[in-house]
Amino acid sequence: MGDMTKPAQGAEPELPGKPTSASRTTLSHIMTGSDTNLLGTVHGGVIMKLVDDAAGAVAGRHSEGPAVTASMDEMAFLEPVRVGDLVHVKAQVNWTGRSSMEIGVRVLAERWNESTPATQVGSAYLVFAAVDADGKPRSVPPVIPETERDKRRYQEAEIRRTHRLARRRAIKELRAQRTAGRADDATEGADRA
Ligand SMILES: CC(C)(COP(=O)(O)OP(=O)(O)OC[C@H]1O[C@@H](n2cnc3c(N)ncnc32)[C@H](O)[C@@H]1OP(=O)(O)O)[C@@H](O)C(=O)NCCC(=O)NCCS
Repeated sequence: MGDMTKPAQGAEPELPGKPTSASRTTLSHIMTGSDTNLLGTVHGGVIMKLVDDAAGAVAGRHSEGPAVTASMDEMAFLEPVRVGDLVHVKAQVNWTGRSSMEIGVRVLAERWNESTPATQVGSAYLVFAAVDADGKPRSVPPVIPETERDKRRYQEAEIRRTHRLARRRAIKELRAQRTAGRADDATEGADRA
């Protein structure tokens, strides 16, 4: 693991670090009939929107300015969410690079008709990039993980970051090879790897 208080790269003057707790955010929402899919439970996309909103709030708070979603990965739905449930979307900065931040999100549901503790119904990891007024990436303060849990999340986020970069690079290389080898091959995936 690298020095947690330093950005991964970049020669720009370093911003002072900010603790995880400074931007941690919970967004709570009661699910209604308009949030359902054809089965009568809550549509996954409704939860994904809340996840993106909560992560965006954290990214904006941490970076003290505009930030955009660069990627969303590992969105897991563990249990269905139902109409009437009070959903809590808890988000925090797990890791920071030069201009990007990994935001970890946990989704909990308090069942409207049960007096049980909130159940974890989902989780996700998103990468946000802080941008300037022209939409160009700008530096973010390094996050300072505080608790043992924050430190574990930082380390795990570094593993995900390494894998994302490696996957992107490998796909780019493969496409470059295919383009070079078969100029007539116009097949392209919809994603940007
Ligand atoms: C995200 C965005 C600003 C990146 O711009 P870019 O020109 O590729 O800039 P860079 O390559 O310097 O990337 C900036 C940072 O984002 C990270 N990043 C870029 N694309 C990424 C991706 N797909 N997944 C994960 N991280 C990504 C880079 O690793 C880099 O991190 P670092 O500065 O911490 O090392 C740009 O692609 C963009 O504006 N995308 C659209 C975002 C948006 O509109 N989201 C809402 C969708 S409706």
